Amino acid sequence: MFWRSVVGKLAMTILLLVSFVLFILTILLLEFFENFHIQEAEKGMMQTATKISSILQQEEEEDVVFETTERVKDPATQIIIMFEDGKMIVSEANDRNLSSIEHSWFKSDVPFKDVLNRNEAIYRQRVLPGSNVEVMIVGIPVKSENAAIFVYQSLEVIEQTKAETTRIIFLAAGIAIILTTFFAFFLSTRITAPLIKMREAALGLTRGEFNNEVPILTNDEIGELALAFNQMGKQLNFHITALRQEKEQLSSILSSMADGVITLNREGHKIVINPPAQQFLDSWYFEKNSNLELPNEILELLDEVITKEQEAIDEISIQGRNFVIIMTPLYDQKFIRGAVAVIRDMTEERKLDKLRKDFVANVSHELRTPLSLMQGYSEAIIDDIAETREDKNELARIIHDEAMRMSRLVNDLLDLARIEAGHIKLEVKPVEISPLISKVSTKFQNVITEKELTLNITEDLESEIAFIDKDQIEQVLTNLLDNAIRHMQPKGKINVSVKNTEKKLFIEVKDDGIGISEVDLPFIFERFYKVDKARTRNGNKKGTGLGLAIVKNIVEAHKGIITVQSKLNKGTTFHITIPNEFS
Ligand SMILES: Nc1ncnc2c1ncn2[C@@H]1O[C@H](COP(=O)(O)OP(=O)(O)OP(=O)(O)O)[C@@H](O)[C@H]1O
Ligand SMILES: [Mg+2]
Repeated sequence: MFWRSVVGKLAMTILLLVSFVLFILTILLLEFFENFHIQEAEKGMMQTATKISSILQQEEEEDVVFETTERVKDPATQIIIMFEDGKMIVSEANDRNLSSIEHSWFKSDVPFKDVLNRNEAIYRQRVLPGSNVEVMIVGIPVKSENAAIFVYQSLEVIEQTKAETTRIIFLAAGIAIILTTFFAFFLSTRITAPLIKMREAALGLTRGEFNNEVPILTNDEIGELALAFNQMGKQLNFHITALRQEKEQLSSILSSMADGVITLNREGHKIVINPPAQQFLDSWYFEKNSNLELPNEILELLDEVITKEQEAIDEISIQGRNFVIIMTPLYDQKFIRGAVAVIRDMTEERKLDKLRKDFVANVSHELRTPLSLMQGYSEAIIDDIAETREDKNELARIIHDEAMRMSRLVNDLLDLARIEAGHIKLEVKPVEISPLISKVSTKFQNVITEKELTLNITEDLESEIAFIDKDQIEQVLTNLLDNAIRHMQPKGKINVSVKNTEKKLFIEVKDDGIGISEVDLPFIFERFYKVDKARTRNGNKKGTGLGLAIVKNIVEAHKGIITVQSKLNKGTTFHITIPNEFS
């Protein structure tokens, strides 16, 4: 493990390098010092020999020569002066090994003869015969005296010096290696410590910890690396935060959209889906009872989008609601990787469209009949078809009735339009209830007596006063009573009960007339809706179908609720609840 780490590798490399250099250096030094010692010894011996040679040339006396020689020579060396006639002067030997040497050997051995005969200096290393001592010998001739001077010395002395030097060199190398080891470890830990920190920080990045900073300890490349690393961390943090925010933004936009959105991949699998789209799919699963992931219409659209590489639109109707699906391709550069489908519920729009068309048809129908009647009867008058004054009066009365009808229609329409557009300002004031009720009932007194109806009024008033717009509520009551009276058999009963508490005003108008069938009940508050589809104009049933629409609008403007209960041939009851603290 250690050898694989950067510390190990660096330290080992430095150690190996230094050891190699030291090894070469040691060998070279050893070599050098060996030669150096020998040369130095030779030089010294040669100098001694030269000195003795000059003494020999100056002095005649053998004793003096011997004496001087003793003084001149190194204690470790021995000197032999050899004359041609066989005479020898031998210095005293301090070295036991040297003293045991046969001096005559010098005479016999060839190299030494050379000194005498050839007259030249020699350097030799020899193992002396009769002993194992290796010696170093320097010999020089002294021509004038016919003699040769040999200086020799045991190599052991040199070996000792050499051993000493070697010891010192090895010691130095050892110390160098130890120091290098420390240095190498110190250096590599210093280099790798920040690297280890960076590795930890990088691992932190992978775990999503972007705020860990690497300390910048040095100014070198590693410091710069740490700086770059920190910058990278910050940039990453910035980009990832931006990405996350964008994603959250997108998902909150998606989930708060009213339209459904589904993202699909090329294979037709859902990738992203928002709640309205899920609702759409749920109703589709419910209606089709299918196990498929997506409706066929959507898959066909996806095919179309992928092959034609352009937006495609389709309509689909599920559970009585109309949906428009708009699908656009999703690109990954130039390749279409999928599509986004936007699903919009168009039911309300379609309904509004239909309402608008129906409204125009209804209004024109309602206006056309009185207009053509008026046209016909007025022509009759002009053409003098009615001969008597009574006939003319009769025609004029019909024309007048129709004109009244038309103006009522137009007024109702205007009222309705104003209330629906919110232009009517409710004038909410404290209003006494009993007088209001009796005022409305008086209006119908004549019809009631004529038809022999009974009108009961029940009042349960905790407080006499309610906060309402008097005129508007009067119109509500008028419309409801008018309806009740008109859809009633003779001798029927109408109950109006009013309850006023501090918080709420309840009004109930109940009749036992012809009632409304279940089929028609949900629609009676719609404009122009009449149960009697033939729009019979005769008798009690004439009407435009606007009355209840106006009632509902007024009640809702008071922030109240109107409900209806009815059974065919049993009777109808309207309930109104209006909050009293409305002001
Ligand atoms: N009390 C009731 N009993 C039976 N049917 C009713 C009653 N009130 C309303 N309706 C039915 O509801 C329909 C709509 O009533 P609405 O008051 O809106 O129109 P209308 O009475 O026909 O016309 P308008 O009130 O504009 O003169 C009526 O045509 C009638 O068929
Ligand atoms: Mg009515």
